[in-house]
Amino acid sequence: MKLIGPFKQIVTLSNLPLRGKLSDDQLEIIVDGGLLIEDGKIEISDSFQNLKNQFPNIEIENIEGEQICLPAFVDSHTHICFGGNRANDFAMRNAGKSYLEIAESGGGIWSSVQHTRAASEEELLKTILERINFLISLGITTIEVKSGYGLDVENELKMLRVIKKAQTFTKATLVPTCLSAHLKPRDFQGSSEEYLQYILEEILPKVKEENLAKRVDIFIEKSAFLPEESKSFLLKAKEMGFETTVHADQFTSGSSRIAVEVGAKSADHLEATIDEEINFLAKSNTVATALPGASLGLGEKFTPARKILDAGGILAIASDWNPGSAPMGNLITQASILATFEKLSTAEVLAGITFRSAYAVNLEDRGTLEKGKKADFVTFKTDNFQNVFYHQGSLKAAAVYIEGEKQIL
Ligand code: NIG
Ligand code: FE
Repeated sequence: MKLIGPFKQIVTLSNLPLRGKLSDDQLEIIVDGGLLIEDGKIEISDSFQNLKNQFPNIEIENIEGEQICLPAFVDSHTHICFGGNRANDFAMRNAGKSYLEIAESGGGIWSSVQHTRAASEEELLKTILERINFLISLGITTIEVKSGYGLDVENELKMLRVIKKAQTFTKATLVPTCLSAHLKPRDFQGSSEEYLQYILEEILPKVKEENLAKRVDIFIEKSAFLPEESKSFLLKAKEMGFETTVHADQFTSGSSRIAVEVGAKSADHLEATIDEEINFLAKSNTVATALPGASLGLGEKFTPARKILDAGGILAIASDWNPGSAPMGNLITQASILATFEKLSTAEVLAGITFRSAYAVNLEDRGTLEKGKKADFVTFKTDNFQNVFYHQGSLKAAAVYIEGEKQIL
């Protein structure tokens, strides 16, 4: 057992509802607090002095100066395993070129597929670990990572094996997801329905056999997979025992409905979701995940996060870090900006990047600082937690702890 503190404030996020709007006065804030840690878990969060009195001989890890403490963040949607770079897409898009023009000049998702296929496992491992370390330095200790730049048996498995290998080099928790249904690859001979069948028959059984992922994702959009074929694909993936998640309503509305109908764990993007669909989604247990990094990368509107929360939905916020639409990777900056445009309270932002996004990836053992939860937390040199989002990501984490152990940043 050890006691860590004192912290000027500990924002525990305890006793908050999984769904719907939140105001900052609902937050439990322990002033001059301490965390009692046992076996990598939170035993007690309370006043530092009380804990010291209660456990007079305990080992103390002293916190110097004024610091605040938050649960570590959970980034529930990323594509950080990739080769290459799409800075030229970004420049072309900003010069007014269309999606088609960018694709024709060698950009788009297909470009990342070619670079990822060409990269060795060692190269992919090295770059994914660099990105993971960057995310840890922001205070993110749980990271979902998708495949989806391989798009054939060999390369999808290569990506998922790299993610599995990366897990052996990091203390952060990686949550792998099979996104072979990102796009029908140009070299696939057959219809998109046949490609989905190929995933079900050739890729997913091997993913299961090697225990490479428990989750399956699909991009439902005019340029990717159509609603009906996607729905039957998702249902079959579920029958095989996979959890499901959907890239939904990014440019056109409708696919979030399919996510709900198949009982997907989350529907992510939702920039184009219309009111009727918002209400449908908000009444379900499917998490609505906003990806402000994609709005910022593409210059598109933000996910209607305010409406989703007001309608009672479960709102998570994730980075979508990928080489095309969301190259920034800084979830704290993105969530802070989403808050200003969508008028989110600090409590709603915090919930969206902690216990609500943890729920989206089925990890309910983390995301708050209450008894029994994983002792993953982040500290900042400031006297008030509001400063973290006020500075929109420029206030750097002072320390990041995983299972009660301070990480070297
Ligand atoms: O989440 N929308 C589809 N997929 C990614 C983009 C991937 C890419 O452009 O490489 C996304 O935004
Ligand atoms: Fe994505």
